[in-house]
Amino acid sequence: MLRRLHPEQPDSFEFTPENRKWAEAQITKYPEGRQASAIIALLWRAQEQEGWLTRPAIEYVADMLGMAYIRALEVATFYFMFQLQPTGSVAHVQICGTTSCMICGAEDLIGVCQDKIAPNPFQLSEDGKFTWEEVECLGACANAPMAQIGKDYYEDLTAESFAQILEDLAAGKVPQPGSAQGRFSSEPAGGLTSLDGDHVSDHNASVDLAVRIGDTVKRIDGTEVPLLAPWNKPDHDGARPPEAVDRSRLVPANKA
Ligand code: FES
Repeated sequence: MLRRLHPEQPDSFEFTPENRKWAEAQITKYPEGRQASAIIALLWRAQEQEGWLTRPAIEYVADMLGMAYIRALEVATFYFMFQLQPTGSVAHVQICGTTSCMICGAEDLIGVCQDKIAPNPFQLSEDGKFTWEEVECLGACANAPMAQIGKDYYEDLTAESFAQILEDLAAGKVPQPGSAQGRFSSEPAGGLTSLDGDHVSDHNASVDLAVRIGDTVKRIDGTEVPLLAPWNKPDHDGARPPEAVDRSRLVPANKA
């Protein structure tokens, strides 16, 4: 599938000050001369900030990394996780349409998207709040059918529960992600038959993070969590993070 930049683009892009600090910290994870390795992390943060990846954002990131624009554009157009067209101001909804989800009702969920959002994928809803698309397997097959909305997975959906989620989002609420049928994770629908001791938390790790940080469908401006880049601090012992090892200099074990 040919992926092109959207014909209508904003004039400019800039990271928020906190996102800029975060991006600069990511770049220092890589050895001198390998800064381009941070491209996916930076493009993703630009998309988290704006909701989609604009041409000015791609060029801004390329400038930060000292890359030719065409190389950054190649990355942005190659990976389907990068949205190259405007998305809903509240959420871009991704419905899994692969085998397990299709068998368990993905078509019903797509019908809800067509009714409540827009007839076609990537078409903005009338109020501009939502867009949707069908995607390949998102790896939650045991909790089919499911949708990814923002950072989170909404699982074990029915047309009714999914419609309610969209209504809640439109009303400014953020519904709790995870199983709509009350499963903790992907245990049998009839309940656990082994390892059935008490859970240490009411939610699984993914849902717990969403509930605690609350950034599920939020545009990320960098103030959500403290910047963790201890190797940049003046009192640090100077040791570089493991990511900064120049792997081209490593000798494979069988040649050592
Ligand atoms: S088939 Fe839908 S998550 Fe795998």
